Amino acid sequence: MSVGRSVPHESAHEHVTGRALYTDDLASRFPNLLHAWPVCAPHAHALVTAIDIAPALEEPGVVHVLTKDDVPGEGDSGSTRHDEPLFPGEVMFHRQPVAWVLAETLQAAQRAARRVKVDYTPLPSILSIQQAIDENSFLTSPLRLADGDMSALDESPVRIDGELTIGGQEHFYLETQASIAWLDETGAMSVHSSTQHPTETQEIVARVLGLSANHVTVECLRMGGAFGGKEVQANAWAAIAALGAWKARRPVLVRLTRQLDMALTGKRHPFLARYSAGFSNDGHLQALRLALFSDGGWSLDLSEPIMWRALFHCDNAYHLPAIEAVGRVCRTHKTSQTAFRGFGGPQGMLVIEEILALAARRLGLAPDVVRERNFYCPGHTTHYGQKVDGAERLGLIWNRLKDTSDFEKRRQAIAGFNATHLHEKRGLAITPAKFGISFTATFFNQAGAVVLIYRDGSVQVNQGGTEMGQGLYTKIQQIAASSLGVPLDRVRVMSTRTDKVPNTSATAASAGTDLNGAAVADACAQIRSRLIEVAAGACGCDPSAVVFGENGVLAAGMSVAFHELCEMAYKCRVPLFAHGFYKTPEIHFDQASGRGRPFYYYAYGAAVSEVEVDGFTGAYRLLRTDILQDVGDSISPVVDRGQTEGGFIQGVGWLTLEELIWDDEGRLATGGASTYKLPSWSEVPDRFEVEFLSGATQPGTIGGSKAIGEPPLMLAISVREALRDAVAAFGDEERVTFDSPATPERVFFAVQRVRSERHALP
Ligand code: MTE
Ligand code: HPA
Ligand code: MOS
Repeated sequence: MSVGRSVPHESAHEHVTGRALYTDDLASRFPNLLHAWPVCAPHAHALVTAIDIAPALEEPGVVHVLTKDDVPGEGDSGSTRHDEPLFPGEVMFHRQPVAWVLAETLQAAQRAARRVKVDYTPLPSILSIQQAIDENSFLTSPLRLADGDMSALDESPVRIDGELTIGGQEHFYLETQASIAWLDETGAMSVHSSTQHPTETQEIVARVLGLSANHVTVECLRMGGAFGGKEVQANAWAAIAALGAWKARRPVLVRLTRQLDMALTGKRHPFLARYSAGFSNDGHLQALRLALFSDGGWSLDLSEPIMWRALFHCDNAYHLPAIEAVGRVCRTHKTSQTAFRGFGGPQGMLVIEEILALAARRLGLAPDVVRERNFYCPGHTTHYGQKVDGAERLGLIWNRLKDTSDFEKRRQAIAGFNATHLHEKRGLAITPAKFGISFTATFFNQAGAVVLIYRDGSVQVNQGGTEMGQGLYTKIQQIAASSLGVPLDRVRVMSTRTDKVPNTSATAASAGTDLNGAAVADACAQIRSRLIEVAAGACGCDPSAVVFGENGVLAAGMSVAFHELCEMAYKCRVPLFAHGFYKTPEIHFDQASGRGRPFYYYAYGAAVSEVEVDGFTGAYRLLRTDILQDVGDSISPVVDRGQTEGGFIQGVGWLTLEELIWDDEGRLATGGASTYKLPSWSEVPDRFEVEFLSGATQPGTIGGSKAIGEPPLMLAISVREALRDAVAAFGDEERVTFDSPATPERVFFAVQRVRSERHALP
């Protein structure tokens, strides 16, 4: 059985030897290739009053400059609303492309782009959430979730009110956005795209060219990371490449440089949260009033479902007897913020963790005690009316992790350390995470697959999910091999193409394996039962007497190898291919009433982190992290471990290092790796223990497994809370807080605030 085995990532060897190909690597296959480069606006907000391309056309090697006059269809790549003109008359963020040069070389295109003459009338810009609120600049109307009796807020003996500013995050996938488009032998459009959503990329290309979808094929071989940044934001580049290929009748490559990618593409949404929470004297949360504002940037993109997910997750793992939560997406003159691992969930969860931490200190209780007291219990429902299935796993994980991480003993040791160290303090924290699995828009939760078996018994699997390093293809290969009883190396997972499986959903919401894996298993099961019939016929026994085993069948004392069985089936004129389909059952959600069951299940986990803070500089070290995550029955334990470690570290980056700064002109001041601090090897905890909950079969999912792509990111909140714990140890301040990210600089100033007169340095 391949499922459940620790197999290496199917491309591991190619990844580490540099032989794995990405979209940009395929350029060498197109000898006639043109390069595209944008003409970027030098304003965050301006009207374009004139464009003169003539000087650029004089540049040697230039073939054409694309403007709106070249668009045969609709010149817009907006995915939700059609609100992203490819050639805008009104510039909406700094460096927004207004025209694209096509040239024989990248250098020629770059030189010519500087020679396109554009006249602008600058306009005032909105560059912060507060400014957007003040100027009533929003992309959505308020979204609302409410439950319980809010009069409990005023009746609560303990009130925690405040505001939390949460920073965004650059995806910094190693492979920047890339697309190659060309006309195929029949004159139809073909596209290689680094996209999480080939079907949507196909739809947008078709829209821009005025073609029907069956004239556009989009393929994604693999991505060098995506993290949500290519869920919708790959579309514009594919559209430009396709438009260029359409116009020039030659293949066109669009590949953003790192600087361009950072300047032009959306990021995780910055949030501003305003909250009022009421607690009982023993630390039970009684009521919560919450206003969330996100910085959506210039266009809608996925900001609305992201805000919904933030609202769905403002409970994290805690029962909220009364809540009124309202979310609103601000429109600013910045890049259009987009999906990023967690999809708004992390921001919602950060707020409730902040509130519980502040309440614990106010009440003089240990934060883990307050957290535990508010846990969901079996039978509870969420503030949107979903029963919290599996809530007992929360307590199970919590207690086991406290045990295996030596939580209590280390807390005492840390108290001892802090009592004897004036300028270094250690902090320890445990935080839980509950993350809802399913696309919140119910219709996305479907998947298709086409499985082909050849007469020699070798297998090709086509399915709708894309590979971005997360190991989807590995799990798909394992699922197909196990369903058909063949060794892994008999199964090839083909690159994702819209002409193999149509109408796919984005590979997102951590549901890639749940959805596509189940569709593949469905197709395999159909072929398998046909093969059993064939074997029964050949052996003259009842199909129920056929044992489908490893690499073949046993029937009436005869054993037939898989490839022989396939040949027999072919001779019997039995088809050796099938399409499979899956749709997640039982889910529904009504936005108007704010009630339903948006998630098929919840993924649970918890983490304990310990840090040491230097009071002179605010610099910190992550000494140790212990994680216990519920992955159900893991399909691929090594892959799941990689996802857990990687997701956690990416969360640590978001919460403690990575800071996006836009200057007064709306320029991204942190627009490169030299100014944007990413986590690296040195940020990995000195000791890092990752375990999966055992005996955790999840009912109703593929192989009893659970999603893993996003949930571990939110375990990094344990690091923020450990930092709070350490900072608090510098003084006896009751309210210890800092905006997110908790950069060394912010930690330093928090230490300064906490060091009361009594504790201040001379
Ligand atoms: N892991 C790697 N290596 N690279 C990625 O881009 N994206 C994450 C996660 N893990 C990502 C990753 C995000 S945002 C999601 S939603 C899931 O993978 C998507 O894949 P899955 O549904 O197959 O888990
Ligand atoms: N999660 C991730 N991506 C999405 C979702 C979601 O809930 N909805 C649409 N795209
Ligand atoms: Mo992931 S943010 O759902 O692509």
